[in-house]
Amino acid sequence: MTPYSLRRLQLATQLDSDSVAIIIGNTEQIRNLNISYPFRQDNDFYYLTGFNEPYCVCVIRPGHDTPYIMFARDSDSHQEVQFGSRAGLNGLETNHGVNRAIDINEFKEKIVGLFEKRHKLFISDNHGQYHDQLGLWLTARQPEHAFDSVKVYREIHQLSPLIAQMRVIKDEHELNLIKQAAHASVQGHIAVMQASAPDVNERVLSATFNRTISDYGCDSVGYGNIVASGNNGICLHYEDNNQPCKAGDMVLTDLGGEYQHYTADISRTFPVNGKFTDAQAALYQVVLDALDASIALVKPGAKWNTLFEANQRVLAQGLLDLGILKGDIEEILASEAQREFTVHKTGHWMGLHVHDVGSYQAPNSNEWTTLEPNMVFTIEPGIYIPANCDKVDAKWRGIAIRIEDDILVTEDGYINLTKQAPRTIAEIETCMSSDKLI
Ligand code: GLY
Ligand code: MN
Ligand code: MN
Repeated sequence: MTPYSLRRLQLATQLDSDSVAIIIGNTEQIRNLNISYPFRQDNDFYYLTGFNEPYCVCVIRPGHDTPYIMFARDSDSHQEVQFGSRAGLNGLETNHGVNRAIDINEFKEKIVGLFEKRHKLFISDNHGQYHDQLGLWLTARQPEHAFDSVKVYREIHQLSPLIAQMRVIKDEHELNLIKQAAHASVQGHIAVMQASAPDVNERVLSATFNRTISDYGCDSVGYGNIVASGNNGICLHYEDNNQPCKAGDMVLTDLGGEYQHYTADISRTFPVNGKFTDAQAALYQVVLDALDASIALVKPGAKWNTLFEANQRVLAQGLLDLGILKGDIEEILASEAQREFTVHKTGHWMGLHVHDVGSYQAPNSNEWTTLEPNMVFTIEPGIYIPANCDKVDAKWRGIAIRIEDDILVTEDGYINLTKQAPRTIAEIETCMSSDKLI
């Protein structure tokens, strides 16, 4: 069995023999005329098939003697010379464990017949390609049966929530890939720190990351690179990455390599010239303490919200101690006054998608999710003080700091998958004063 066939089986056991699961793969997206963006498979589809070609639909019929059907493009030597090889219909059946492969051009004619007399359709169609049409095709087929005894009324359900429940707990295969992504990304962050110097452009640091993760087997990044020097870091998703880094500023980097479809998500913030000023160090230490306060709480049974609350308390207390906030700590937390400078929530599931699927609330309740072994998520507190924030002392202005690690829940605690990317002030200054990878 492959990881994918195991997952299909696991999904099938949650459905029943009156059900059909339909998972729609991604299509190519046009960039300009006959040039497409690099193809990226739909995550639900990839999770259940491991198949990376565009224009596919996977059909799973629990309990059927041919349960696994794939609609796909057939071989086409002319197209394959131009755009790359395809498995082809025979190849899918011979090499990919598919029970029956059907040309995607026959999808409209063949799909309804595959349902046989099953009533419940569970559909994952994350980009809404077929959802409306399927309903129409079902309706169009009804008159054929209108006067006989096999007229079948069908319910359409969302499949993605069921797959999300599976995806939030990573299996061994996934954990290995996430660890590879984390390792490559750690090396990328080290290389970026060591390439930083006054007047180096943000785009050069961004390219340094891409170059390094490719040495460690990543084909891509999991999201747009963020290399934000100085006040650019105030924009949480700054992706212009085209300004020269200035001596005396910090650089906020948020960079994650993708390894065989699984991403890492790491933020580090460091001084352009490798040496923290007193003000930068003071704010940085608050953010690092906040991150470590959250990480220390990670273990099975902990509630998701306690991690966020722990780092907000440390951030608020730190801002108070530095005179950036004023007042009483409990009143600040009650009114969330710290959010003016801490801005965002501080974590999310991570896996096939950087903001991976999975609920933050327990099913059918207002309770927060309880952590379980093999969940993977980020923790990423930050402090952001805009350059034009004249209500704080001038020395704090234009400083944006985010520190983000990727955490795996284990049986009795956690592993910080990204702690090798320099994160303490001493580790960063040492790394940036060295020409060698540490
Ligand atoms: N890189 C996006 C995030 O940290 O959520
Ligand atoms: Mn993140
Ligand atoms: Mn990030």
